Amino acid sequence: MKILFLNGPNLNLLGQREPEVYGHTTLADIEAKVRERAGKLKAEIEFRQSNLEGELVTWIQQAKGRFEVIVLNAAAYTHTSVALRDAIKATGVPTIEIHLSNVYAREEFRHTSLIAPVCHGQICGFGLNSYLLGLEAAIIVNG
Ligand code: DQA
Repeated sequence: MKILFLNGPNLNLLGQREPEVYGHTTLADIEAKVRERAGKLKAEIEFRQSNLEGELVTWIQQAKGRFEVIVLNAAAYTHTSVALRDAIKATGVPTIEIHLSNVYAREEFRHTSLIAPVCHGQICGFGLNSYLLGLEAAIIVNG
């Protein structure tokens, strides 16, 4: 089973960025933890980050036929991107929405996810563990 982890804008700054919200873990640390767990669960993963909306759209489109599930932390694009939503819907690859922080406990503009209605489900508020739960959810979704 192949799972594609996609990370949106500013997640490359994890570790330095608002540590009171996101902690001190870097994206590389998160990737290492996900890889370790995926190995135990016999899942193959690819882990990517982009600050560009169009690049994320292209990666979602290309996932069809190559990955069984996408685990997506769309970061700020969660709240703004019709293009990401349309890509998820168009490609039909089951997608799990994840966030490090509990977006519902934060500013009001973070309470709306444009991608949630086209995702299989949503995990948020568990920090780095949101990624590990996302991995488990991907395996469950794949049945
Ligand atoms: C985030 C939450 C988003 O609202 C924010 O724009 C991010 C990170 C999270 O993982 O908690 O960049 O997706």
